[in-house]
Amino acid sequence: MTNAGERPDAPTRGIPRVGAREKVTGMARYGADRTLPGIAYAMPVVATIGKGRITGLDTAQAAAVPGVLLILSHLDDLGITPAGYIMGDGYAFQSLQPMLDDRVAYRGQPIALVVAETLVAATQAAGLVRAAYEQEPFAVEMGADGTETVLQQEALPLPFLADIVVGDADGAYERSPLRVDVSYEVGPQHQVPMELIGGVVEWHGETLVVHEGTQSVGALRGGLARQLGIDPANIRVISTYVGGGFGQRNSLQPHIAPLAVAARRVGRPVKLVTPRAHTFHAASFRPVSRHRVRLGADRSGRLLAAIHEVDQQASRHDLLPSTYTEITSRLYDIRNFRGRQRHVRTDAQTPGYMRAPFEHPAAFAMESAIDEIAHATGRDPVELRLANDAGTDPVTGKPFSSRQLAACLRRGAELFGWADRSPDPASTREPDGTRVGWGVATGAYPSMTVPTLARLHAGANGHVLAEVGGHEMGQGITTALVSAVSANLGIDPDAISVVVGDTRAAPHHLTAGAWGTNSTLLAMHAALGELRSRLGVAAEGHVDLAAAVRASGREEVTVEAVTQAPGQPPEMIDRMRAGLVALAGPEFPSYVSFSFIAHFAEVRVEPATGRVRVSRVVSVADCGRVASPVTADAQVRGAVVWGIGAALREHSEVDPRYGGFVNNDLADYVIPVNADIGDIEVDFIDEPDFVLNPMGVKNLGEVALVGVAPAIANAVFHATGRRLRRLPIRIEDLL
Ligand code: MOS
Repeated sequence: MTNAGERPDAPTRGIPRVGAREKVTGMARYGADRTLPGIAYAMPVVATIGKGRITGLDTAQAAAVPGVLLILSHLDDLGITPAGYIMGDGYAFQSLQPMLDDRVAYRGQPIALVVAETLVAATQAAGLVRAAYEQEPFAVEMGADGTETVLQQEALPLPFLADIVVGDADGAYERSPLRVDVSYEVGPQHQVPMELIGGVVEWHGETLVVHEGTQSVGALRGGLARQLGIDPANIRVISTYVGGGFGQRNSLQPHIAPLAVAARRVGRPVKLVTPRAHTFHAASFRPVSRHRVRLGADRSGRLLAAIHEVDQQASRHDLLPSTYTEITSRLYDIRNFRGRQRHVRTDAQTPGYMRAPFEHPAAFAMESAIDEIAHATGRDPVELRLANDAGTDPVTGKPFSSRQLAACLRRGAELFGWADRSPDPASTREPDGTRVGWGVATGAYPSMTVPTLARLHAGANGHVLAEVGGHEMGQGITTALVSAVSANLGIDPDAISVVVGDTRAAPHHLTAGAWGTNSTLLAMHAALGELRSRLGVAAEGHVDLAAAVRASGREEVTVEAVTQAPGQPPEMIDRMRAGLVALAGPEFPSYVSFSFIAHFAEVRVEPATGRVRVSRVVSVADCGRVASPVTADAQVRGAVVWGIGAALREHSEVDPRYGGFVNNDLADYVIPVNADIGDIEVDFIDEPDFVLNPMGVKNLGEVALVGVAPAIANAVFHATGRRLRRLPIRIEDLL
């Protein structure tokens, strides 16, 4: 393996990852790691039909298992109300709260919750609960009988979700000398984070404490308050470590309120660790999307028109707002663009956000189609992309806050050795028959900013405690925050503690959409300015913190700052404080902002089996200034692994006869393992974007994945001459 840090001219590696030692030594305590005297264990029972009604629930045998304390179901009055859909002014990943009535909307929906003295008793009893059902017809595949299609425009009238239309795409397409009209499909996927969904709930008098890994302690607090009808001030949510968020943990999940009810009834803390199989239905997933892309170009490959039409899977009860065309309209300077997004209702839980939720599938479609244009014109795919680079935003006419996509392509090509690529597909073969192919693709991701609060306590001992709204999911937000404080004040990182993921420390925004680091750094920047002015020290340069605090005559100086994006209405701060989604971007009053990336992939296709190995990837990102080199490098590396999984492995299989997802464990839901991963080289343009914010930081976590899959698919085309338009690419596709 190579990495940027080993090159003599590489930028500084920055500070080591905060919390790394705790994680690798097993000292880090995740939500469900909490142990308490008298704790009880919960186990859900899930529906085994595709759709219908529960006509009877026999809990007698289950209740007779020694140690069983309680069995909750819709037959009890749970006293809870739905928390509302996160994308519809609520808190939960879907509007449907299970266990409130006899309806079964999808296979795997929780229908009962068993609580017992031990995990063994809870598990055994859950297996003994017998449900009788009245079944109804259902559809789990898009386009099957019984699915219903809804236009995004009609269903989701929010202006920022409007389909993007610029110029006359249909006319320009018809007039184009060169046209491609191709369809792509990206299958459903699940996030499968290492940490299973669940945690511990405990009542201390009227106060409810929840220990659970989440990307939004605010949504858990706000949502539970609504569900239980209690004051949010009486709820504390602690999420110190998160064993993978990836969008699956971006909202309240329906297990928590029943768990809180159970804990109150049994008078004990209750722990739930959702079994892996259940997590395939208990939380969100990446929906199926089908894309038709039409591209028009002149004979030289100058792009004249693009039409990107997408159908995305929805649940019967919610529509997930989609933004596929937000990036496909911006990757190139295409003056005639028409996007159209539709939702197809199916009988599943509501799909949701999974890393680069729309951008990864959108880039697979668009960047594969661009490769098809390059091939049709005989132009080099890198050169063709550079020739179509955009100066200003083709959608709004506004400038980009910064755009280093061309630099990503040029540096990536150089690091990869792209100049040596033979132009013809299926032209490189090793002596044993292995076919070798090189592919390139780009990605973009919107820069969004959310309201954030940062509070600094500077002590006379020279220590700084920072309490910041935000969550550490392993992406490195605390490392970036410690780096920022250390660099600003010139103090040792060991003298800085950062607390995130705790409702007692600060109100928290939802940390998602890759906006966490830039938003928290903006608040931190403001708080540091406030601290300097409070201490009466210069606006820049090293601070003798202990001396400055002592000079103030206090043991500790506390300052606070709340920041938001330019043009963002102040009510958004109230929404953030309530735990509701409150984002701004990528369009701001005087510019638009996106992060960019270019990926170069080498694949080797084995002669007898058609098995594809990704032997080498070079990824170069434009995320503005790199806030934390060690964790940024790791984020891109991890995204490349995700991309290999997305391109070649991961697919959630549905069964149209029975409903639900069937490959619901890590033996059958195939993710890449170490043996699947070759060399990954990561580099950054590292040009600050001072238009977006004073730290020059854009975002990285999501853009890192965008374009990996099409780079691999384009490399497979180059290796074999076979254009594969459905992910994942399977061995049988290449036989
Ligand atoms: Mo992300 S998929 O918005 O957590």
